[in-house]
Amino acid sequence: MHGLLVAAIICALVSGPEKIIPRPASYRTGEKTFVYDGKVKEVKASRSFARQVDKLGIPDFARDEAYALEVTPKGVTINALTDKGLFRGRTSLDMMLEYGDTLRCCSILDWPRFAHRGLLLDESRHFRGKDYILKELDQMSKLKMSVLHLHFTDGAGWRFQTEKYPLLATRGGWRIGDTYKQWEYYGYNFGCEGDGYSYGGYFTKDDLREIVKYASERYITVVPEIEMPGHSIEVVKTYPETACLAPDGSRVMNHSVCPGSEATFELFQAVIDEVVDIFPGKYIHIGGDECNKSAWRNCPACRRRMEEKGIKDVNGLQSYLVQRMERYVNSKGRSIIGWDEILEGGLAPNATVMSWRGTAGGKQAVAMDHDVIMVPTSRCYLDYYQDAPVFEPEAIGSAYLPCERVYSYDPGRDFSEQDIHHVLGLQGNLWCEFIPTVAKAEYMLYPRAFAIAEIGWSPQEVRDWKEFRPRAIDYIEVIKSHGYNAFDLSAEKGNRDEMYKRLDHLAKGRPLTFNKPYDKGYHGSWDVTLNDGLFGSWEFPDDRWLGFRDGVDVTIDLGEVKDLHYVGGSFWAHAPEAICPPEKVEVWLSDDGNDWHLAGYRIREIPDAAKDIMVVELTVPLVDKGRYVRFKALRRDLPECKLMFLDEVIVL
Ligand code: ACM
Ligand code: ZN
Repeated sequence: MHGLLVAAIICALVSGPEKIIPRPASYRTGEKTFVYDGKVKEVKASRSFARQVDKLGIPDFARDEAYALEVTPKGVTINALTDKGLFRGRTSLDMMLEYGDTLRCCSILDWPRFAHRGLLLDESRHFRGKDYILKELDQMSKLKMSVLHLHFTDGAGWRFQTEKYPLLATRGGWRIGDTYKQWEYYGYNFGCEGDGYSYGGYFTKDDLREIVKYASERYITVVPEIEMPGHSIEVVKTYPETACLAPDGSRVMNHSVCPGSEATFELFQAVIDEVVDIFPGKYIHIGGDECNKSAWRNCPACRRRMEEKGIKDVNGLQSYLVQRMERYVNSKGRSIIGWDEILEGGLAPNATVMSWRGTAGGKQAVAMDHDVIMVPTSRCYLDYYQDAPVFEPEAIGSAYLPCERVYSYDPGRDFSEQDIHHVLGLQGNLWCEFIPTVAKAEYMLYPRAFAIAEIGWSPQEVRDWKEFRPRAIDYIEVIKSHGYNAFDLSAEKGNRDEMYKRLDHLAKGRPLTFNKPYDKGYHGSWDVTLNDGLFGSWEFPDDRWLGFRDGVDVTIDLGEVKDLHYVGGSFWAHAPEAICPPEKVEVWLSDDGNDWHLAGYRIREIPDAAKDIMVVELTVPLVDKGRYVRFKALRRDLPECKLMFLDEVIVL
């Protein structure tokens, strides 16, 4: 074999710190190698390492996770202040060993940037159970993640066995409809455990104790979320005394519990009692997001509560519930986390805010001296499409969040140096409305969870997408060999090809008249959108897709009579969001703007719901002339079709 080739192969088989995810804060490598002999010298709390940590100015929260890992020709040594630090060091060693026993001699000095490096797993919308959670905890641990946010009580299923309110699990954990859409379709109903036709399940207390123990052995804290007062139809339907009253005295079976009813507090406080018994961590998440407060306005119990407490509106009523629950949780020695809606109506005094609707909630909470966890949808929602939506399994909405975009997030960038201590960290949220199986959950998680882990751990200045990407691709192969599913980042299609194009065509930049208006809520780049030579991306709706409520009808003045060969455009279609392509496009031509003739038309052949997301091109070939081009996109007025989106009217 050629000498260089041999050298290259040997080199490829030598592993080192450059393989580790998350990338260490600092490392140096040497020329020599060491063949791992299965032995590690672990040194806990040595004076010299403590001095090193002091000298580096590692923040207090990070000291117990800091470690130094030395690989020399004689062996491997790990230094740390605590068992947790030693564990993180061994984790780095294990990750290097995934690529072979021959290690490059190196010296790693490493500690986390943020304390909270988390994943939210949603076991409410689909229940996969304990073994899945244990499996993902294993992977989280390899990525040095520190928090599992267990979203296991939501409308679509209550997954927490409780003694005082057993029906929450035995009925509220068993819905009618295997899928989320079926459950919606059948009216958000529940059967009961063992009835043979309901879908569901729940964690027993023993399951949860095992999960907590397994996590803590890996230095991961489980944050349970007991969702209230919205996303709670499973509570309302199993214990109707927690529902609001309509003026006629009947119960309102919607998604929100009644903050006027004492029964609501009795139930949630009893649940908290059982929760603190199982979950030892500091935080209990109490939800607070997307609460429909409409029934509260007319409910006699809610109105009485507002009068008694001098509460002026329904936001104040939500705040009353959150603050009262906070006092209860605090009385148990724990603290609450809530979604950023808990800022509305008055923030609970000791609450940590999870900022999901962008970063504004996080900034507002920090300005009020509260801690925050950053989970903005545009960077951290792992239920979004990670590649070209038209080729991907169904995800949520039509949102596009490729791994690179996740990786580009820096939770520190919205905060000053004095305030950054309030940013506990970030997490990836895997909502599971459309994710029924373990395989699909893992496909959505990995490799984007690698990116979340690295953002949370590694200093911003050592992070670089170009360097991360091949490391992530290698690690995808590793986790696949351990039985995980993952998205194939090496075969990523990327953003829509057309969005990189600039097309000079006859209509570009010419005066364009809207005979029917576009929707100002979906304004793209306003009037120029349809003839700026630019095409829409997968980041729908971006500034290149223009939305219409009543079809498209535009006229373009080409300035003089021209030979015409082609008029057409591309339409975005997504049936679940009522975004439909036209059934027909027509091209009308005129030399003077008065006399028009129909030059051609095209009827769409693909049915509306052929695929959840499509980009439908409709073009009309012509052999004709004209100065004025009128382009119409038409469809029947159907309740399931509210919007039409077009990115460019191309005239050639
Ligand atoms: C959320 O995504 N509703 C927190
Ligand atoms: Zn009420």
